[in-house]
Amino acid sequence: MRKQIVAGNWKMNNDAAQTEALIASLKSQEKTTNAEVMIAPTSVNLSQAVKATEGSGIEVVAQNMHFAENGAYTGEISASMLKSIGVNTVILGHSERREYFNETDEMLAKKVDAALANNMRVIFCFGEELADRKAGNEETVVGNQIKNALFHLGADAFESIVLAYEPVWAIGTGETASPEQAQDMHAFIRKTLNDKYGAAVADSVSVLYGGSVKPANAQEIFSKPDVDGGLIGGASLKADDFFAIVNAF
Ligand code: 13P
Repeated sequence: MRKQIVAGNWKMNNDAAQTEALIASLKSQEKTTNAEVMIAPTSVNLSQAVKATEGSGIEVVAQNMHFAENGAYTGEISASMLKSIGVNTVILGHSERREYFNETDEMLAKKVDAALANNMRVIFCFGEELADRKAGNEETVVGNQIKNALFHLGADAFESIVLAYEPVWAIGTGETASPEQAQDMHAFIRKTLNDKYGAAVADSVSVLYGGSVKPANAQEIFSKPDVDGGLIGGASLKADDFFAIVNAF
């Protein structure tokens, strides 16, 4: 049985006081589904968030990390540093990291390796741009993003990997992929995994959808057979909206 997951990517939002307040509101929400709930505060507030969520069932995850274990990488954070404050999962490959911080497939492959070597779980993001979709290249682009960063791994590694399909044209734009577009791509992603690793891996990896998921559209998207949850940006900044999405399964 694949895990259902709803993860809130806070991006560069919420200072320390706002982090405390949002976590307090999240803890007061009622959860009516079995979905795993995760939040990804900004790195300076991770330690505080881990403490504030203790015993709540909400997992705190990082938005990024470096591939090196330590050394001369000013401003960066390593997997073991995250682990040392109780963060066991990291989002890697978000389109904003790829676009604004020049993260390449090659770099992401190294980050994935570093996370797995530190026994961390990875939420690996990818997705096509609007021009790719208009040209009918979305499957090629997504297939290559997955292959280039993940297909050096053995099948066992996928026990620690969650995939997140986030079409760039749907992030923060209010424009969501239709449930059918999401399902079609998720089925393609599973087929890509199946071709390389076989059905056991393809059927067990959770594939999340991200891009303008809101309380109003979550239920329809999550009802699709190959969609196992969501990676939520804007709507994860309000506790009511976020839990309406968590409870949409
Ligand atoms: P929005 O939900 O704001 O479109 O962001 C999606 C996203 O990028 C989550 O990682």
